[in-house]
Formats: sequence, C-alpha cells, structure tokens
Amino acid sequence: MTIIPDNQHPGLRALIWRDDRLEVLDQRRLPDQALYDCYDSVEGVADAIYSMRVRGAPAIGIAAAYGAVLAARRRVAGHDADWHAGLEQDFELLAAARPTAVNLHWALARARQLLAAVRPAREDVVARLLELAHTLHAEDLAANLAMGAAGADVIQGACGVLTHCNTGSLATGGHGTALGVIRTAWQRQQLQAVYATETRPWMQGARLTVWELAQDGIPVTLLADSAAAWLMRSGRIQWVIVGADRIAANGDTANKIGTYALAVLARQHGVRFMVVAPSSTLDAATSSGDAIVIEERDPSELLLPAYQHDDSLVSAWNPVFDVTPAELIDAIVTERGVVLHPDAQRMQALLA
Ligand code: MRU
Repeated sequence: MTIIPDNQHPGLRALIWRDDRLEVLDQRRLPDQALYDCYDSVEGVADAIYSMRVRGAPAIGIAAAYGAVLAARRRVAGHDADWHAGLEQDFELLAAARPTAVNLHWALARARQLLAAVRPAREDVVARLLELAHTLHAEDLAANLAMGAAGADVIQGACGVLTHCNTGSLATGGHGTALGVIRTAWQRQQLQAVYATETRPWMQGARLTVWELAQDGIPVTLLADSAAAWLMRSGRIQWVIVGADRIAANGDTANKIGTYALAVLARQHGVRFMVVAPSSTLDAATSSGDAIVIEERDPSELLLPAYQHDDSLVSAWNPVFDVTPAELIDAIVTERGVVLHPDAQRMQALLA
C-alpha cells in the first residue's frame, strides 16, 4: 500500500481506478488530511472497507466491484485450474467486510451474474469485471443526479432540512443521495437552512458532511445528535433527509445509528422524513427490517482508553445502524421513482 497526498480538496473522489490499482481516499483522516491509499489486492480492498477508509453503502458497493477485478487478476494469472472457486472465496472475503450495507452484496451478485451468464474466456475475465465496475460507478452517479432532482421536487416549500451521517460524494459515486437532494434543492434556491448532526461515534456529519457542503459553498449548521429534538421543536426544519444501507421489501430502512430516533422525533414534531437511496440499496429478498443484520463494531470505538483494560467494569454496546419502520417514513426516493408512505405493496410496485 502506498499513500498519495492530494491537497486539491474540491472534486475529491472517494474511489479512483488508476494504473490497474484502486486508490481509496482515507475518509478517517478527513478533513485534516486528504490522502489516498493504493490497493492492488482483494485483501487490501476488504480491509479498506472494514476499516472504514471507504464508507457509505453505494461507495462500499463500488469498492467491492473494483475488489473483484483485483481478485480476478490474481486468480486468473495463477496456475490454479479451479480459478472460479478461488474467486468465490475472494468474493466471500469482500462480502464479510461489512454486513448491513446491501450494496456490497449487490455488487458482488452482479459480478457473479456476469461470470455465470457471459462465461468469459479466462483471458477476458479481468476486462469484463473492470467494465462492470466502471459501469456500476457511473450508474451510481447518474442515479444520484436523478434522485437529487426527484427529492428536491418532493420537498418544495421547505426552508429548513436536517441530515444525518454522510451521504454525499464521499459515500457514493458522486453528488450523493440525501446530500444530493440537499445540493440540488440548494442550487434551485429552495432551502434557507441546512443542519447536520455530528453522527457519533464516527462523526461522519461533523467531519465529512459539513466539509462537503462547505466545499460547495452551502452554509451548514452542525448540531450534537442529542440536540435534534430541540431543533425540531424550534420549528426551523420541515424535513429530515437521510440515506439508507438497506431497504427491506416493506420499506423498513436500515441506516446509520440514530436515524430511527430522528424518525420518531420527526413524527412527534410534525416534521417530514425522507429516505434517499438508489435501487442497489433495495433488498426485495428481505421481507422486513427485523431480518436485517445490524453491524456491531468494536466497543473500543466508544470507550475511553481509561476503561479499556481487562478488569474494567465499564463496557460499551456499539451497533452502528438501526432500522426505521416504514410507517415513520413519508417518502422513499430512488432513481426509479418516489414512493410516498411506503409499504410492501408500494415498494413492490416500484420494483415491478
Ligand atoms: O458506517 P457508514 O459511514 O458506512 O454509514 C453510512 C450511512 O449510514 C449512510 O447513511 C448510508 O450508507 C447511505 S450513504 C449514501
């Protein structure tokens, strides 16, 4: 792994395929440093996903697609006759990196489909998988631009919005999902105020969202996660706009921990609640949110060092996503269309 500094913040991309390697912007270091780590192995890409150098459901999916290219290059170049089986092991490694974001599994399913349907000759496998990765990358950007316009149409009349976590260019192929709606609505002069939560414990809001918005010249006000109820009570926001890591067949939505609390608060205060996600985040095979696996990360991400010793009586519980029931969601915006008041029937109609 080599590190490439990049001080040109505007236009920073989360993922760049260059010189047959994947360059990953290390988002853990933002906004202080913009450094790219370069990967030429599938193990490296799996670690970049697990360690959250790259994060955000669509970006994770795209990274996995490039990871599949690196895996294929090694398997095909080796003398192993059963390179298919080896490649499947590599796909499993990527899939295990983070369990909740379905885009990761979706991208790998697309790679498997390609291998099964096209059955490329051994010498063509790498080129075909690379073509797929570039396609998924470009399709995600296009989906975000479409969702930005569709979501901005839905929030017409709003003057203040709150977003949670980071759903911008850093988390996607570009423009963003929830942040894409905010960007588009701001460009259309529909918004007067944008608020962002800190998003503990990883601080995606405080480190990444406010940084992205400031890069675009969009003023943003940061608040502690625990200040959301008071903000809603003040009447300053009309919509909460968030992304998603997995949307079940009935519209139940897994997203960054704290999203569920925001949805409950929004309903209490008459604030509307929007989820914005590409169709790669829809999981028709999972009937409801109860079946979604919620990633729990190491307690050390929460615990102060003073409590991280063997005989400490202080422990920590660190689920990093939660599930918002569909009945608390006013609109799900995808590139295929908008579902108002989502339920199983309306979600099925979207996918038909
Ligand atoms: O743990 P993270 O930072 O990967 O979580 C990201 C989120 O929860 C986002 O809201 C979601 O992936 C949508 S990103 C467009």
